[in-house]
Amino acid sequence: MNSQGIRGSPYEFIHGNNKEAAQMLMEAPTKPMTLTHDIFPRVMPHVYSWINKYGKTYLSWNGIRGQLLITDPELVKEVLKNSDKAFRKPKTSYFFDKLIGDGLASTEREKWARQRKLANYAFHGESLKNMTPAVVASVETMLEKWKSKEGKEIEVFQEFRLLTSEVISRTAFGSSYLEGEKIFDMLMKLSVIAGRNIFKAKIPIISKFWKSADEIESERIAKMIHDSVMRIVKKREERVVNGEADNFGRDFLGLLVNAYHEADQKNRLSIQDMVDECKTFYFAGQEIVNSLLAWAALLLAIHTDWQDKARAEVIEVFGNQNPDSEGMAKLKTITMIINETLRLYPPISGVIREVGREVQLGKLVLPTHSEVDMRIIALHHDPYLWEMMLIFSNPRGLLKG
Ligand code: HEM
Repeated sequence: MNSQGIRGSPYEFIHGNNKEAAQMLMEAPTKPMTLTHDIFPRVMPHVYSWINKYGKTYLSWNGIRGQLLITDPELVKEVLKNSDKAFRKPKTSYFFDKLIGDGLASTEREKWARQRKLANYAFHGESLKNMTPAVVASVETMLEKWKSKEGKEIEVFQEFRLLTSEVISRTAFGSSYLEGEKIFDMLMKLSVIAGRNIFKAKIPIISKFWKSADEIESERIAKMIHDSVMRIVKKREERVVNGEADNFGRDFLGLLVNAYHEADQKNRLSIQDMVDECKTFYFAGQEIVNSLLAWAALLLAIHTDWQDKARAEVIEVFGNQNPDSEGMAKLKTITMIINETLRLYPPISGVIREVGREVQLGKLVLPTHSEVDMRIIALHHDPYLWEMMLIFSNPRGLLKG
């Protein structure tokens, strides 16, 4: 990469640049910060610092894996389009494997295509429309609770955590939040463990014989999640066995259970695949939306002018009626606010792809087994691509161009 003009931090034995990154990540939150949306240097201080030092395309080392950071949207599109089939999802790390297993978000090829088909059946346009009443009911329950707290402070992150848990439980798993409560708690514990181990290198042979306290704990939690998911699956099966229902249902869980009972062994879903898919959807469906809602609420609390515009639009479209999917498509201001919240506070900070075979990307030739790191937060906070973070004081300011 050096000969192609790419610079970066020098490689350190086994750890790569992870120690340096971990040190910066530890120090960043200890520095005072004003109320600003300029969170990039704080959230990803290592990426911010390396961009400033080595440029917007640089090489870093995640352990022994060389990672090329790209921030040019055209190159990012090329990697994600993957027309040459040269890029693939990297193998999930030990801890993320415990969190989402080999579910849709991490799997590839035939298995991805099969699982994706199932997900598409459960989440197509018409079925999403049918989910609206469940979402409305969940929001009503939350707002009812808030009425008794008028004038008092509400911890919205926690409130949205319950709301998003309830919504994904009802819409994908046909159950209430309470049924999935343990799973959500355990997934959160696992994500905290995964987060704090992100830069810890595994030493190949030693790690086969010795496990850290976090590894032992995450295995214990993963086992508990497996058992909890299976209890929910059993309940669904029992409804058919007891004659309370004549099929497993048409929601996501129903389709998974159906595939698990598939007569044709070739197409049958294994228990592990079924559990991994449930974990993926419980996690992705809850955690990400929780983050989006909480940041959107904070932004609206700060920028009351946008709060007024949002309220006026909702009243104009729905009056005093509950929202429906046709009306939601008309909410232009709300869509702008959601998009801008996702830009400033992206719930997923980056996407990584492994290079499956030597490939040309723009002017660069990438070697097999290297990785491409698309730090969403770096792209979203690049003042060259976006007008400086003015949107909430600049009514025009969304996308440049
Ligand atoms: C604002 C909300 C959301 C954002 C910003 C978001 C973001 C993302 C991103 C960036 C990826 C690509 C990851 C990669 O390719 O490495 C992804 C994939 C995925 N997300 Fe989301 N997501 C959101 C909501 C959801 C929800 C609500 C669910 C589940 C109900 C979900 C389930 C998934 C799944 C299953 C994948 C893998 C898809 C595949 O590979 O076919 N996401 N999401």
